Amino acid sequence: MARISVSMTVNGKAVERMVEPRMLLIHFLRDELGLTGPHIGCETSHCGACTVDLDSKSVKSCTMFAIQAEGASIVTIEGMAAADGALHPLQEAFREMHALQCGFCTPGMIMRAHRLLKENPNSTEEEIRLGISGNICRCTGYQNIVKAIQHAAAKLGGAQVKEAAE
Ligand code: FES
Ligand code: FES
Repeated sequence: MARISVSMTVNGKAVERMVEPRMLLIHFLRDELGLTGPHIGCETSHCGACTVDLDSKSVKSCTMFAIQAEGASIVTIEGMAAADGALHPLQEAFREMHALQCGFCTPGMIMRAHRLLKENPNSTEEEIRLGISGNICRCTGYQNIVKAIQHAAAKLGGAQVKEAAE
């Protein structure tokens, strides 16, 4: 199949590749860029394991083609920690509140939580539960995930969540 050029910014870096038009964004991130933080769970838009931030929106990267992200700015879980390796407050909060077990859902869950707190820094428990309802966790029962997001929101003081890739 003929390949076409696609370019975008991922975690603050400009990238350009020749890809088949049918390549999904999740495969582009994992296979072309080596960013294996975004996980492949269902590939049918249900589980949220592949969630990334695209132009300030949460996107399930299995639901779109890489070429549809032409010109976009994307942040993946790899872009959340600071350049010196310091974890993002959400990553710290997930660790401190034991918000993961197998960890398969965690990269997508954190990216969704990141956008949720950007949209609503003072989210209530109910709003958090609704906000992460597109992300499935098979292990934790969600309780500690909700606590971690609340903890991160408190750490951030209700202030705007800093863009990790800035
Ligand atoms: S792998 Fe994308 S939503 Fe499940
Ligand atoms: S921690 Fe295992 S799926 Fe969420």
